[in-house]
Formats: sequence, C-alpha cells, structure tokens
Amino acid sequence: MAEQLFIKKKKSDLTKNFFKSNTTVWMSHEDAVVKIPKNFNSIAYTKDSKLTIIENKRMKIYGVQFHPEVTHTENGRQIFKNFLFLICKVKKKWNVVSQKSRIIQEVKNIVKKEKVICALSGGVDSSVVALLINKAIKKNLICIMVDTGLMRKDEFKYNYKIFKNKYKLNVKLIDASKTFFKKLKNISNPEKKRKIIGNLFIKIFEKQSKKFSNVKFLAQGTLYPDIIESKSSSGSKSSKIKSHHNVGGLPKKMKLKLIEPLKEFFKDEVRTLGDSLGLLKNICYRHPFPGPGLAIRIIGNISRDKVRILQEADDIYIRELIKCNLYNKIWQAYAALLTIKTVGVMGDSRTYEYTCLLRAVISEDGMTADYFSFPKDFLNKISNKIINNVKGINRVVYDISSKPPSTIELE
Ligand code: XMP
Repeated sequence: MAEQLFIKKKKSDLTKNFFKSNTTVWMSHEDAVVKIPKNFNSIAYTKDSKLTIIENKRMKIYGVQFHPEVTHTENGRQIFKNFLFLICKVKKKWNVVSQKSRIIQEVKNIVKKEKVICALSGGVDSSVVALLINKAIKKNLICIMVDTGLMRKDEFKYNYKIFKNKYKLNVKLIDASKTFFKKLKNISNPEKKRKIIGNLFIKIFEKQSKKFSNVKFLAQGTLYPDIIESKSSSGSKSSKIKSHHNVGGLPKKMKLKLIEPLKEFFKDEVRTLGDSLGLLKNICYRHPFPGPGLAIRIIGNISRDKVRILQEADDIYIRELIKCNLYNKIWQAYAALLTIKTVGVMGDSRTYEYTCLLRAVISEDGMTADYFSFPKDFLNKISNKIINNVKGINRVVYDISSKPPSTIELE
C-alpha cells in the first residue's frame, strides 16, 4: 500500500537526499514498531506507523519499515546508496559485465572435462546461460530444447535455427508435446500443473543425458526473483507464492547436479550480460515468458485446441504492440485464456465462446508491477482484431491489477 512519509528528524545519513516535498513509500505488511528501543531516534513516520524509520547513529543500526527496494517507493534507491556508501563506506567496484569472466571461470572449474546439458528455451535467461557456458566449455555443452507444445506461436523453431546456425551451439530439439498434453489432461490446479511440467522437464533431460557419456550437470536460467518467490521460509509470515518450474518444480532426488550461473541476478542485469555476449536484440529484449508456458495462461484444464486459440490471440496482440511502438515500453505483455464461456453476437448469429484476457505491465524486475495505461484507441483496435480473427474468442478484457496484490501471471 502506498503511504505518505513525514519527516521527524531531517539530518540522518540514511535519508540524505531522500525526502521530497511529498514522499510516498510502499508498505505491504501490517507489523509496526510501537515502542522505540533505548538509544534510538525516530527519523520518519506515516499516518498509521509512528516509527517508520529509526536510527542509532553511534552503533550505525537503522530500521526501515517500508520497502525501499520497490519502484512504488519514490527514490528508494537513495536509501541503499546512503547505507552502502555513506554509512558502510563501501567502494563501488561491481558491475554486471565484469561478472562475465568470473562466471566463465567458475563454470570451467566446476565442470572440468564433464559434460553439461542446458535446458534452452530461447528466452533471455536460458540463452544467456547457454552462451556463457559455451564460452567456458565449448562442445561439452549440449543444449536441449524441449518443445512442450506450450510455447508462443512459431517461436520455438525460430529459436532453434538461431542457436544452431548463428551461435553454432550443439543443440538438440525434442518434440515432447504429446507427453506434456497427456500428463496435463484434466489438471486444473495451478500448482499441480507447475509440478507436473517441472518433473516432466527433468525426466526428459535425465533421459536425454543418458544418450551422452559423462553428463553430470544440468544448467538452468534461474534468476534471483525465481528463488525468492519459490521460497517459503518457516518461522516467517511470508508464504510460498508459487513454484517456479525451474526451482520448486524440481524433483527432490535428481541425478544431475544443477548449475545456475544467473541465480544472483535480476532480469535487467541478465539483459546487459546478453548484450555483451552479442545476443540478438529480439531475444535479449523479448518479454519474459514463464517456464510452464501457456499452461499457466489458460485457466483450468488445457487442450491443444485451447493452446492454438491462445497462440493466435497472443500473436495478434504482440504484433500490434510492436507495430504501435509500445512493445519496448512494457515489461511484459501477453494474452491469457479465461475458459468460461459467455454469449456474444457475430453478424446475425449467437456465439458462446471463451474470453481473452490481455495483460501488460511495467516493472523493473518482475517483483512488483503496475498495469500499463493503453490509449483507448489501442484497446478498441486490439479487441476487434482478436475477436474478428480468432475463432473461439468472443470477448476481450484488460487486466488492470498491479502486483501486489495480484501477480503478473494468472496461475
Ligand atoms: P509472477 O506471476 O510471479 O511473475 O508475478 C513474475 C515473473 O516471473 C515469471 N514467471 C516465471 N518464470 N518460471 C519462470 O521461468 C516460472 O515458473 C514462472 N512463473 C512466473 C513471470 O512471467 C514474470 O515475468
């Protein structure tokens, strides 16, 4: 929730250049400090919480109740800068690109002469992982692209050709769509879908790895936010939000050892790494796509038919965003299929079809997000285009929820 922050004590190293005439901060929990500890000062407060920032200057201990890390907190980065550079006197040496050689060296040290298989989807995360590991171990990297049948329209074959022909990776394409559709038949629970997909992925990789000698490792493009959101820490009130297929969906007993070179990075940092590795812009800056794919963008049971309907709608939506120069202004946009049927009218006939939900959000790292404000003309145009061209959809709605309280994906 956004709250206005009021200043109690102006001079504090932690809040230098932080306060504006009207400072808004994001506070999502109801806990509050009610009594100030001995030797602490109150720096700022909100309407409902009297001790929102506190400090013990001599001991250099600070307490901040709101979330300085989220975009909804104006100027929140300044709090981190002040803490690191003014209070802890840290020197700024770290930059993303300089991590490239460290990662490559680490992979060399861990893998030695063994082989690694990489789950390559063609999204920016797994693409960057594949290019990094390829730099470290060349032909000992085997990239496996598993076509689940749940990808965006035509994207998988395009990705395969790029990685094989342009980047000369050792890449193998497996069509596993039949198995995925079979296992997901009549499954409507989101967590079950995620677990089934995660387990199936690993089974396929383990099976494939047996076809090569000395495969000991599985490389994945797990990012830091995936780990945070899949974790449920006991003793804390924060609960597990969902099982990201490349974290929570993995079976407990896995024969391959995991390599996750990006697990401490955020998406924008991965994109910077991708740029420095010469990754094509349309792959590097493509909107994020979840591992479980369209299975979690179709509410309830999935089928080939529903996937085909959704692929068509999504393709029209994304093409239109690119054509209208909106694609790069948005962190993530996609179409989802709400599989409740409603009545419509086409020409003189009654229709009874599914609803297409459009989502478009702005965000910095996917941890928090706001819906994108489209011009009305765009919404009119895209709604007509989808309904007129996609058989199976007779209604289009636009999702205007932010994260929190909603999430970016629907399941
Ligand atoms: P949510 O829905 O949690 O999404 O707000 C945050 C970001 O994570 C992506 N996402 C996933 N990525 N495997 C992934 O690799 C997953 O299972 C998964 N679930 C969500 C989502 O698309 C968004 O960018």
